[in-house]
Amino acid sequence: MCGIVGYVGSKDCSDVLVNALSKLEYRGYDSAGIAVFENGDIKTVKTQGKLKDLEDKLAAEYKPQGHIGIGHTRWATHGEPSDVNSHPHSGARVTIVHNGIIENYLELKEFLTARGRSFLSETDTEVVAQLLDYEYNGNPLETIQKVMQQLKGSFALGIMFRDFTDRIFATRRESPLIVGVAENECFIASDVPAILRYTRDYYLLEHDEIATLTTEGVSFVDKHLRPITKELKTADWDMEAAEKGGYAHFMIKEINEQPEAIRTTIMPRIRDGLPCLEECGITVESLKRFRSITIVACGTAMHAGMVGKYVIEDLARVPVVVDIASEFRYRNPIVGKDDLVVIISQSGETADSLAALRLAKQKGATTLAIVNAKGSSIAREADMLIYTLAGPEIAVASTKAYITQLSVMYLFAFELALAKGTVSAAECKRLIAALIKMPDAVAHVIENCEEKCKFIATKLVNADSLLYIGRGLDYALSMEGSLKLKEVSYIHSESYAAGELKHGTISLIEEGMPVISVATQTDVIPKTISNIVEVKSRGAKIILVCTDACARGLKDGVADYVVEIPHSEELLMPITAVVPLQILAYYTAINRGNDPDKPRNLAKSVTVE
Ligand code: M6R
Repeated sequence: MCGIVGYVGSKDCSDVLVNALSKLEYRGYDSAGIAVFENGDIKTVKTQGKLKDLEDKLAAEYKPQGHIGIGHTRWATHGEPSDVNSHPHSGARVTIVHNGIIENYLELKEFLTARGRSFLSETDTEVVAQLLDYEYNGNPLETIQKVMQQLKGSFALGIMFRDFTDRIFATRRESPLIVGVAENECFIASDVPAILRYTRDYYLLEHDEIATLTTEGVSFVDKHLRPITKELKTADWDMEAAEKGGYAHFMIKEINEQPEAIRTTIMPRIRDGLPCLEECGITVESLKRFRSITIVACGTAMHAGMVGKYVIEDLARVPVVVDIASEFRYRNPIVGKDDLVVIISQSGETADSLAALRLAKQKGATTLAIVNAKGSSIAREADMLIYTLAGPEIAVASTKAYITQLSVMYLFAFELALAKGTVSAAECKRLIAALIKMPDAVAHVIENCEEKCKFIATKLVNADSLLYIGRGLDYALSMEGSLKLKEVSYIHSESYAAGELKHGTISLIEEGMPVISVATQTDVIPKTISNIVEVKSRGAKIILVCTDACARGLKDGVADYVVEIPHSEELLMPITAVVPLQILAYYTAINRGNDPDKPRNLAKSVTVE
């Protein structure tokens, strides 16, 4: 769950590496480092802390001068964040950067220790560096091949051999890696935004392939060291999309990008007023045969799946189970050839979600991936694929990825309902027409509720703990609201089905405790209001996110603060109702002095278990 980069060209390598790393800090930011060939030697500078700390160190102490090198931004797995555990790591003739986890590193460490090798750090990566050095026979490709045969786990590696000062090498298994190319220069990176300043052209490195990068260009070999040719891809994301564009943080920028992200995601999948997912490999015919659906994902993506469950069951009358990927993969789930397993993931690289996908396939289920990152592992391995077209999401807290995941869930549910004959074409057209209005509705909510949410956030700043409550779709949405708040503000929060409070949790309510209630579903609003009154009478401060229609029906004093959102098609309300919850989380984090883009202990892409 780190970011790695590499450069070969004629530019100042240290500058290029630092710039490229700045686009990967979302992958980890507890330490950073670079290594550059300088006058035939490898010069390494690394430090605990954010990339800014590395920049300061380069400016204050020493900046390697050269044109070829590798870099790393870390999310610690083995060994605490410290200077010595930071990457790059070296053996006598080899220096490497690594993203992933070497599962058999202790075994390999013992093997090397028994042969007189010693280690400076606690990392699994240093073991790989030492092993490369131990196996080195003067031929880098053979050496890398030999080492890869001994490694278990996941890795993307950037490698420099002291004897080959005109090139770097790269390989991967499980962890992502791309190879960018421009005129007389080339790059490696864990993700496309890192290279966009320099080029849009890149290759996707497949498992166990090895790339050699020189100023003459890039060559690839497979795991048998046979030369291979690869398809050149062109990124359709531009630099501006990967930058903050005038906003204080990526999180608020990405909240504001949501109307466009929904539009881009849904419009190409609508034809003649009906959903059309044929280009994703999904037809009405193919959907008819599924007996049940299991949605598997982690975090926010799983919450999008919860909304999907309510919508699919309501419209298509197909039973849906939503499972956390890390649970699904270890509990012998009941899925088979008549079932569809839907994997939702922004990054497409989440280790547990990827393992869940593989397990589902192994059990004979058909798999559908709903993924944002193009060409990611989950996208490539699933039987069917719908991309959410949210563009790069940089903030760790997922916002526009979630809203596009919801949008795809709706399109899919509509298509499935048509296939099952539970919704008529006319009704489906009506729902699609309502969905097409959602980008404007979201823009309206952003514009009209930001100030109110900003104000309410000032009331949450000193809270120790709070609750989110709702019923039905509002409950599914509360889960996401609660996660958003806790991950960026570090205030403890739970989401609860409002009707479940009386079975234990209501005992937590005490004077002044904030309770955020979502009420957008007309049939259960009276019930939710009763639950609100129950917690209010026990001292809770009520923040109510509800439709304007609901707000009009409220008696004075039911809520302390009300955020009204326009009433629209009720099934689609999570798309607009999530917006105030996101903005509330953002401003609460700001008020508490937190960096909402890089919450502590988290990383954007969770590529380890
Ligand atoms: O990349 P994924 O969608 O698979 O990531 C899953 C979760 O780690 C992710 O949704 C996480 O919960 C969010 N970043 C929280 O905002």
